[in-house]
Amino acid sequence: MKIVLGPASAELGERISQLTGFEKVSVASRIFPDGESYVRLEGSVYGEQVAIVQTTCVPQDTRFLQLAFIANAAKRNGATKVCAVVPYLAYARQDKIFLQGETVSVEAIAAMLNAAGVDALVTVNVHSEAAFPKFPFPAKTLTAIPFLAEYFIQKGMKRAFALAPDKGAMYIADQAKQFLGGESGHLEKQRDRYTGQTTQTGKHLKVKGETVVIFDDIISTGGTIVGAAKILCEQGAKRVFAACVHGLLIGDAEKRILDAGVEEIVSTDSVPTKNSKVTLAPLISQELKAQASG
Ligand code: R5P
Repeated sequence: MKIVLGPASAELGERISQLTGFEKVSVASRIFPDGESYVRLEGSVYGEQVAIVQTTCVPQDTRFLQLAFIANAAKRNGATKVCAVVPYLAYARQDKIFLQGETVSVEAIAAMLNAAGVDALVTVNVHSEAAFPKFPFPAKTLTAIPFLAEYFIQKGMKRAFALAPDKGAMYIADQAKQFLGGESGHLEKQRDRYTGQTTQTGKHLKVKGETVVIFDDIISTGGTIVGAAKILCEQGAKRVFAACVHGLLIGDAEKRILDAGVEEIVSTDSVPTKNSKVTLAPLISQELKAQASG
């Protein structure tokens, strides 16, 4: 197997190549003045299985096109199998039709990637697996939560309270709890499907005097974490941290979260930022080694 370093995840791809021992293939890329994308494989993939490491954070559409072009180039140049390793899979929140006239965006993305040459997909803490059965190739999601929990254990925060900011993230908080060994709980979040506005409430949480880590899959605008932090402060939490797999942190999200009383934001390198304090390299390497030998 060879590891192709997608331009959005070149550093992570390098780490995966080092950990697996699989040779890396660099990709030259540029954006033309009119916005069109260009990619070129800088090594041979002939007769090889390849794993293209390319996340799809902002600018998502460009990142997807680059991935599709790289997959297509790999197949044209004789790759036998192309696995797209997409640490953050954008569009996964539109995993079903909520209002008449919409599409299932993530399903359409999978169809486009398959047409370009992708044969399999590996991602991390996808927002929802609901659309996976409709994908034209096998798709697998890994979990980075043990690695995020370990970060807090290393900080001496064993037994911290793991809070999910909504019911959907409760599985994440429960995974974290298994490692942290403290309590877990969740808030209730309601979203208006037309305006996108959300409201959160928190009842029966034993967080008074506790150190709390809010665990979510994605932080985008930060609204969910800000709302959760306010509730935690009102309920007397002693210290509040925020952890997520995919720290998109759009606009002034980081400032708003810190202003709301959160001490630190921790995310993975699925979206490379200064908050990416946890790397996905060991998790993805383990999966690729298993695939290569299986
Ligand atoms: C939604 O259900 C997700 O799990 C996240 O809670 C959400 O995407 C976070 O978005 P934001 O940071 O904009 O509130």
